[in-house]
Amino acid sequence: MGSPLSFAGIGKRYGDVAALTDFSLDVAAGEFVTFLGPSGSGKTTALNILAGFIDPTEGEVAIDGVPITRLPSDKRNIGMVFQSYSLFPHMNVRDNVGFPLRMRGVVRARRDHLAEAALAMVRLEGFGDRKPHELSGGQRQRVAFARAVVFEPQVLLMDEPLGALDLKLREAMQDEIRQVQRRIGCTVIYVTHDQGEALAMSDRIVVMSGGRIAQVGTPAAIYDQPQNTFVARFVGETNLLPASVVEGELRLGSKVFAVPADGPGVGWQGSVALRPEHFARATAAGGQAISCTILDVAFHGGSFRYVAESPEFGRLIFQEQRGQGHEPLAPGQATALGFSMDKAVFLNG
Ligand SMILES: Nc1ncnc2c1ncn2[C@@H]1O[C@H](COP(=O)(O)OP(=O)(O)O)[C@@H](O)[C@H]1O
Ligand SMILES: [Mg+2]
Repeated sequence: MGSPLSFAGIGKRYGDVAALTDFSLDVAAGEFVTFLGPSGSGKTTALNILAGFIDPTEGEVAIDGVPITRLPSDKRNIGMVFQSYSLFPHMNVRDNVGFPLRMRGVVRARRDHLAEAALAMVRLEGFGDRKPHELSGGQRQRVAFARAVVFEPQVLLMDEPLGALDLKLREAMQDEIRQVQRRIGCTVIYVTHDQGEALAMSDRIVVMSGGRIAQVGTPAAIYDQPQNTFVARFVGETNLLPASVVEGELRLGSKVFAVPADGPGVGWQGSVALRPEHFARATAAGGQAISCTILDVAFHGGSFRYVAESPEFGRLIFQEQRGQGHEPLAPGQATALGFSMDKAVFLNG
């Protein structure tokens, strides 16, 4: 038996547009994998090829090692949740949830029983007789979710399912989706353009750009070790400082460091990436600290986020936990930022 889910060399072209190029990925059973990327990066195309709504121009998709590329979508045992709830407006909630069972020839009594159980799982017991228009947006999306899991699919696909909901509800639904997924044990592929959502929910993230995979890894690996400037910029906030290795020294503007053991070689030119939390206020300017002026301060509850302007490096973002023994900085104030080269990631470009 092969990998529970696999994409092998998938490509999709529309005339001159390459929607997806050389997309290969194996997903383990029970894994929660997120396709993350900006609009137009090929996320929906990849998902729809797996679901069977789009034929790839090249490559194969397989479940448990069996190619399904030419199998009709309703034979794939895949559940699907879209951004628009796509509920049947004339059917009540119970019938909406039971619909995939009806398509599979399950009798009414059994269907209603399973639909009620699925509704209970998304905390909508007692809503079976309502019509979709009698529900809030969040409730409708929970119904759509119940409908996607009611037949216990091996694979559940979700395409920006929370995009239409407000932030508080989105966060609550993120937890709920993870809990239900753990209970059912299905494999999930989740699509979002929201990097915070991807980091919070996923076992692994596939970062996409221009129809290609930019990086695949766990949330921590993607955050701590971005492999290119696209990923560094798209996932979390990053400061990219132009740097080079000249005469055995690492140079950032006028500042000179020893090249770290696993650092780049002589002649390298690129960027040093530092996360906002990797900076700390230095006690004195000069030396290796970066002098800057505070432009803006934002209160984030447990921390402050600062925007600063450095004459040498331009705009820098840094973050400071509260209660570090000093007063918060104010716009217009001068400060100096220290950092450890251990935290730096070296990127080409
Ligand atoms: N039916 C289509 N015809 C032509 N181009 C398409 C079609 N579907 C998608 N595309 C193009 O393919 C690229 C990827 O689209 P899509 O997979 O929908 O991106 P995402 O879901 O990441 O926003 C985009 O450039 C989009 O315009
Ligand atoms: Mg899309």
